Amino acid sequence: MDCFKYMKNANRCSSVFVLIFISLASSIHVIFSANYIPSEQIFLNCGESLILNDTDTRSWTPDVGSKFLLSAKSSISKAITQDPLVPKVPYMTARLSQSEFSYRFPVVPGRMLVRLHFYSNLYNGHNATNAIFSVSAYNRLNTTNNRFFYLPGSFTLLRNFSTSQTTYALNCAYIVREYLIAVDGETLTIKFTPSTNSSNAYAFVNGIEVISMPNIYYNDNGLKLVGQDSLIFVDNTTAPESVYRINVGGNDISPSGDTGLFRSWYNDQPYLYGETVGVTVTADPSKTIISYPKGMPTYVAPENVYSTARSMGLNPQINKNSNLTWIFSVDVGFYYLVRLHFCEVRAAINQINRRRFNIFLGNETAESGVDVIRWTKYNRVPVYKDYVVIVGGEGPQQDLWLALHPNLSEQPQYYDAILNGIEIFKLSDTDDNLAGANPIPGPKQDVVDSSKTLPSSHAGMGKTSPSDGPAGQLPKTNTTGIYASSLLSNLCRHFSFPEIKAATKNFDETLLLGVGGFGKVYGGEIEGGTKVAIKRGNPLNGQGVHEFQTEIDLLSKL
Ligand SMILES: *[C@@H]1O[C@H](CO)[C@@H](O)[C@H](O)[C@H]1NC(C)=O
Ligand SMILES: *[C@@H]1O[C@H](CO)[C@@H](O)[C@H](O)[C@H]1NC(C)=O
Ligand SMILES: *[C@@H]1O[C@H](CO)[C@@H](O)[C@H](O)[C@H]1NC(C)=O
Ligand SMILES: *[C@@H]1O[C@H](CO)[C@@H](O)[C@H](O)[C@H]1NC(C)=O
Ligand SMILES: *[C@@H]1O[C@H](CO)[C@@H](O)[C@H](O)[C@H]1NC(C)=O
Repeated sequence: MDCFKYMKNANRCSSVFVLIFISLASSIHVIFSANYIPSEQIFLNCGESLILNDTDTRSWTPDVGSKFLLSAKSSISKAITQDPLVPKVPYMTARLSQSEFSYRFPVVPGRMLVRLHFYSNLYNGHNATNAIFSVSAYNRLNTTNNRFFYLPGSFTLLRNFSTSQTTYALNCAYIVREYLIAVDGETLTIKFTPSTNSSNAYAFVNGIEVISMPNIYYNDNGLKLVGQDSLIFVDNTTAPESVYRINVGGNDISPSGDTGLFRSWYNDQPYLYGETVGVTVTADPSKTIISYPKGMPTYVAPENVYSTARSMGLNPQINKNSNLTWIFSVDVGFYYLVRLHFCEVRAAINQINRRRFNIFLGNETAESGVDVIRWTKYNRVPVYKDYVVIVGGEGPQQDLWLALHPNLSEQPQYYDAILNGIEIFKLSDTDDNLAGANPIPGPKQDVVDSSKTLPSSHAGMGKTSPSDGPAGQLPKTNTTGIYASSLLSNLCRHFSFPEIKAATKNFDETLLLGVGGFGKVYGGEIEGGTKVAIKRGNPLNGQGVHEFQTEIDLLSKL
C-alpha cells in the first residue's frame, strides 16, 4: 500500500494545455447538516497518563490506569525521535510488550469504527525494526453460555506487521489503520501479539479509537462483482478496512471537519495518473447548499466532498481521446468495495444527457452511460454508488485503476466526466483475515515534491513528507522556476524556494492556473503584490533540470 503514488511509467506528455478553473474550495463555508452523534466514542492515548487534546480538538483518554487495558506484562515509553510533522497526541507515547497484551472496550452491540495509530520509533531501547506483530479483534458473543470468549474466527487485522518496513516502504511519517467491525457481544477486544519468528520481536500501539457508527457502508443485499455475475455481501460477517478516502478536486478534511465519524478525507492529486488530470470544479460559493436527497443521511459524506469535484475539462476533442484516471496501490488477493460519490456542481449540468460517462475499475466496465442528473434529478444533489472488485496478480501489492471516459454513444451535450469522492475498503477474506504482506521498499526514488506533505497509505491518513522517511535518504528536488511579467529583461531575478513557497501559499492548488506538458503553473504574488506565474517543474514528466532552466530563461525573455 502506498502513501503516495510516485507514478511509475510517468506520463510523457505532449504539450497538452488544460485550462483550470480557479476554484475557491478553501473559502467555502461548509454547513454541516446533521452530524452523526456516536453513542460510543473512545479516543485512547496509549502509554500516556494524562488527558490530552489533539490538534483537531479531540480529547484523548490516557490508557495508564484505564479500565480498557487488561492486565498483562506491558510497559509504556515516549518516542525517542519526535518528528515535528507528527502530531504529539497520540503519537509521542506508546504501550509496548514482548508478550501479548489486550484492550477490552465495553460497547453497546453495533457497528464500530476502529482506528489504530502507529508511529515507528525507538521505544524503551527496542529497535524499531523489531516491532513485528499481529493484531486481532474479538467481536462476538458465545450465545450458548452468554459468556464472551475468543472465537477462533474473529478478525485478524494485521499479521507479521512490521511498522518500520511499512513506514519506510510507504514513506509515511506515521500509520493509521481504520476498520469497520460489527460487534454482536458487549465487548470489543483488541489483542496485540508479537511475532514468534524473532526473539526480539515486540508489539506496540500509540492510539486506539472506537466509535459507534451508523449503517452507511454495509449492504446485506449483495453487490455485483465488476466484470462478473457473482454477488458479494458486505454484511456483519465482513470487516471492511478503509484504505483510501478521497475528496476529489477538493481539500483535505480533518477528523473534526467530518460528519461526526472523525474520518479524514484527502485531496486526490497524488493518485491522478496520465496526461489528462482534468480540472477541479467547485459549486458556486453563493449557492453552496448541497441538498441531500430524502433517505440519504447527511453524514454519509460532508458537503465539502460534494461541493468540489474533478471533471475532464472543456476540450471535447481531448476528452474523447483520453481517460481521467486515478491509481491506488492495494494488497492483492482481496475483494475491494469502491464507493464513488457524485454531485453535479456545474450550474449548466441541470438536465439529463448533458454529461455522460463510463466508469472503469481494474480496466473492466463498472458502469456505462452514467448520467448523474438521471440519478439525482437535480443539480447539487449528491449520490453515491458502490462497486466490488477483486484484485489479483503478483503480490504483495497491485495498482487498482479507476478511470472515467466520456460516453459518446449516448451523444451527450458535453464529452466530459465528473467525480466528487472516492472511498476504497479492503474486505476481510473467508478466513476473516485482512492482513496483507508488508510492502516492499522500492528502489530509491528521485521523484519528490519536497514542499508538500502527502496523505499516507491506508485511508490516506497520516501525513508524510518524502524527506522525512525513516532513512531520510530521498533527495530533495527544487526544480521550481519563476517568470514574472514585471521582470522582462535579461536580468533574471532568482527567487529562493521559501519565497516561491510563500508566493504560492505552498503551491496551493487553488492558485493553479494551468498544467502544461512539463509541470504546473501557479498564480502568486511576490514582493508586495506583483502578480507572477510560477511554473513548478515535474521530474515525472521527463524534463531535466537543464531543459527546465532553458525553458524558463526563454520564457523570461519573451
Ligand atoms: C448486524 O449487526 C448489527 C449490530 O452490530 C445488528 O443491529 C444487525 O441487526 C445485524 N444485521 C444482521 C443482518 O445480522
Ligand atoms: C536496528 O536494527 C537494524 C537492523 O537489524 C540495524 O541496522 C540498526 O543499526 C539498529 N538500530 C539501532 C539503533 O540499534
Ligand atoms: C490496466 O491498464 C493499464 C494501462 O493500459 C495497465 O498498465 C494495467 O496493468 C492494467 N491493470 C490491470 C489490473 O489489468
Ligand atoms: C480508458 O480505460 C479503459 C479501461 O482501462 C480502456 O479500455 C480504454 O482504452 C481507455 N481509453 C483511453 C482513451 O485511454
Ligand atoms: C514477515 O515479514 C517479513 C518482512 O516483510 C518477511 O520477510 C517474512 O517473510 C514475513 N513472515 C511471514 C511468516 O509472513
